Amino acid sequence: MQYLNPWKRLIKSSRKPIFEFQQGCSPPAETNLNLIRACIFDLDGVIVDTAHYHFLAWKRLARELGYELTLADNENLKGVSRKRSLEIVLELGGVTATEHEKELMANKKNTWFNDYVERMMPEEIFPGVRQLIVDLKKNGIKVALASSSKNARTVIQLLRIQHEFDAIVDGTMIEHSKPHPEIFLLAAKKLDVKPEECLVFEDAEAGVAAALAAGMKCVGVGNPQQLNKANEIVAKTADFKISELSKL
Ligand code: BG6
Ligand code: MG
Repeated sequence: MQYLNPWKRLIKSSRKPIFEFQQGCSPPAETNLNLIRACIFDLDGVIVDTAHYHFLAWKRLARELGYELTLADNENLKGVSRKRSLEIVLELGGVTATEHEKELMANKKNTWFNDYVERMMPEEIFPGVRQLIVDLKKNGIKVALASSSKNARTVIQLLRIQHEFDAIVDGTMIEHSKPHPEIFLLAAKKLDVKPEECLVFEDAEAGVAAALAAGMKCVGVGNPQQLNKANEIVAKTADFKISELSKL
C-alpha cells in the first residue's frame, strides 16, 4: 500500500494552507507556508482573572488619592507595566508625586495585589484554558507565556500551570512594556519561531497593538469594540477553536 503523507497531499491540493488539526499530528517544519507554529498567551485576563485584582488594587490607591477609578479608566492600565500604570493613575487623578512617593505608591499597590493573589487556587484558571494549551501542544504548536507582570511566575506557580509553557517571558525580562512588541519578539526568539508564525492571545488594547507591531496574528479576548484591531475576537479564551489556526 502506498504511503500518503497527508501534509504533502493537502499542501499540493490547496493554495491556502487548509488542513485539519488533530491529536498527535504536527505540521511539517520544513514547509515555507505561513503556518501558525506557536501560540503566545498573555496572563492577566487571558488565563486567569488577575486583571480584576490589578483593578481592585489600583482602585484602592486611587481612592486614597481622592478619586474613583472606573472600569473604563482601567482599560488603559491593562497590559502596561506597573510604572506606566501608576503614571496613568496619577494623571487621571490630577496628582503629582516625587519619584520616591511614586515608588512607595507602586509598592503599596503591589502588596495589595499580592494579598489578593496569594490565596489563588489552580481552579481559578479560566475554564477550558488548560485544555486548550494541552490540545495545542498535542497538535505540535509551541506555547509561551508573555506577561508584562513581574508577578507572573508567582501566579502561574499558584495555578500550577508553569510546566505547560515551552517559554516564559515576564515583566522582569523586558525593557519596554506593551504596546511595544519587545515581549512578544522575545517569546518568539525563545521558542525559535518567526514572528509571523505566532498567534497571540490578548485581552488588552495595548497587548493587541504589541502583537501586531511584532508582525504576529492576534486573538482578542473580550470586548470587540476595545479589541477591534485583533484578527479574531472571542468572548473567552477557551472559545477559540484550534481549527481556526489554519484560517488566520
Ligand atoms: C499586566 C497587567 O499583565 O501586568 C497590568 O495587565 C499590570 O494591569 C502589569 O499593570 C504589571 O503587573 P505587575 O504585577 O508587575 O505590577
Ligand atoms: Mg492581560
